[in-house]
Amino acid sequence: MNSIPVITIDGPTASGKGTVASRVAQTLGFAFLDSGALYRLTALAAAESGMDLGDEPGLARIAAGLDVSFEGERILLSGREVADAIRAEAVGVAASRIATLQGARSALVDLQHGFRRAPGLVADGRDMGTVIFPDADLKVFLTASVEARADRRYKQLIGRGFSASMQAILQDLRERDARDTERAVAPLKPAEGAHLLDTSNISIEQAVEKVLGWYQPVTQ
Ligand code: CDP
Repeated sequence: MNSIPVITIDGPTASGKGTVASRVAQTLGFAFLDSGALYRLTALAAAESGMDLGDEPGLARIAAGLDVSFEGERILLSGREVADAIRAEAVGVAASRIATLQGARSALVDLQHGFRRAPGLVADGRDMGTVIFPDADLKVFLTASVEARADRRYKQLIGRGFSASMQAILQDLRERDARDTERAVAPLKPAEGAHLLDTSNISIEQAVEKVLGWYQPVTQ
């Protein structure tokens, strides 16, 4: 039994869970795991080594051998800063394909468990509450309408200096939702006992407050 507290925040793409999770972590002084970044890092490393997305054992090998370190906002892959590079849409699409493969998912399990350090962890992803940390103290499933999520993704991409088209984003979100929820391995779904939070019409701050409110009773 691991007594270090964990809060899991799962949900579909662009639901705002990354921002909510990192703010909750900051408020509580907990570590933060952006598990999606690990799939994106695997996708980037695969692209850079010219690996085909059909090479399942090869992708699992890349995932198992990731040399990654998270230093605040910085993400270093083999010592190189890649925090911006992994946010490119093409990397996200490849990550979502790699995420359907059992071999790659299994290869990332130990790395994710390693983030559970005192005084606690907030973990953001698709299967944090269902597969990686089933014993979490608090599980949240964050959703938002596809339109609200497309709007957020659009602003996020433009803000980072990428070009973006609303039409393409909507289509990509729908395809990614389908891949995440319909895949055989660790499909996206609320964990048993998860609190559901729809953020279509509430601000990030309100969502953070809600999650912190749910967590308080657990700590007392
Ligand atoms: O930006 P977006 O929310 O789409 O993606 P992300 O959270 O950065 O994760 C990238 C991809 O990894 C997603 O499209 C998911 O398919 C996958 N993923 C996953 O399968 N399991 C996780 N725990 C986290 C991400």
